[in-house]
Amino acid sequence: MNRHFKWALVTGASRGIGAAIARILSENSYNVLLLARNEALLREVSREIIVKGGHARWLGVDLTSEADLKKLREWARNSEIRFSLLVLNAGIAKVGKVLEMSMEDWRKVLEVNLLSPVALIKNLESFITSPGQLIFINSAAGKTAFAEWGAYCASKFALRAVADTLRAELAEKNIRVTSVYPSSVNTPMHDELSLPWDRSKMLKPEDVAKAVLAATEFSDNVNVNDITVENISGKF
Ligand SMILES: NC(=O)c1ccc[n+]([C@@H]2O[C@H](COP(=O)([O-])OP(=O)(O)OC[C@H]3O[C@@H](n4cnc5c(N)ncnc54)[C@H](OP(=O)(O)O)[C@@H]3O)[C@@H](O)[C@H]2O)c1
Repeated sequence: MNRHFKWALVTGASRGIGAAIARILSENSYNVLLLARNEALLREVSREIIVKGGHARWLGVDLTSEADLKKLREWARNSEIRFSLLVLNAGIAKVGKVLEMSMEDWRKVLEVNLLSPVALIKNLESFITSPGQLIFINSAAGKTAFAEWGAYCASKFALRAVADTLRAELAEKNIRVTSVYPSSVNTPMHDELSLPWDRSKMLKPEDVAKAVLAATEFSDNVNVNDITVENISGKF
């Protein structure tokens, strides 16, 4: 018998924070649909969830591709699944001064971090339950601007505006909206950035996942607008 009953979709669930969110939700009464591009990693995370008695499906999608979003919508239509929760987590970071970063990198950061969650929600709007919930994984960089992080900060400041606006617009549909603002988290994102930061002082992906779970545990009539999560030793 399937002990689960609600479906959650998690973007960027192939690794890092998204994988931790998928795991914790699957342990707490959610079936989970995992999205990202790397199918081998998605399969691995799903298998791990299923072995522990959870219910997981996955779909390889590039969230910036209209064709892939259409594939996702078809998948939702065919499977007759309705999502109680969308976790908009997928994101990328590129570091560089505002005037030195290529316009190509500017566009990529804004496309993945800001526009792809909007496109995803637009595509899946009719597959979200009422009551329902959207949780955006924002960042400390969504509230404070840091030198060399201009594009990333711009994407996350704007993502905050999207979340706040959707909260106002979707309340009548009983859809709650939360933004989670973590400081640095020790994930594969930092393998690529290779900054001289002490990764042992960063948050763990599971810390952010716990904040997401906490936001789901309030009553359907309660909006938990913002959750800030920081390591006690500082931002990184
Ligand atoms: N790590 C931090 O210090 C930190 C701090 C605060 C907030 N955050 C935010 O937390 C979120 C997750 O970050 P993370 O640290 O877990 O990063 P990560 O380890 O690099 O994981 C990023 C995830 O996003 C997916 N992704 C990236 N581009 C995609 C695309 N075009 N289509 C589909 N999936 C895509 C990746 O999957 P594929 O490569 O398989 O597509 C991966 O699953 C991001 O929004 C990030 O801004 C991170």
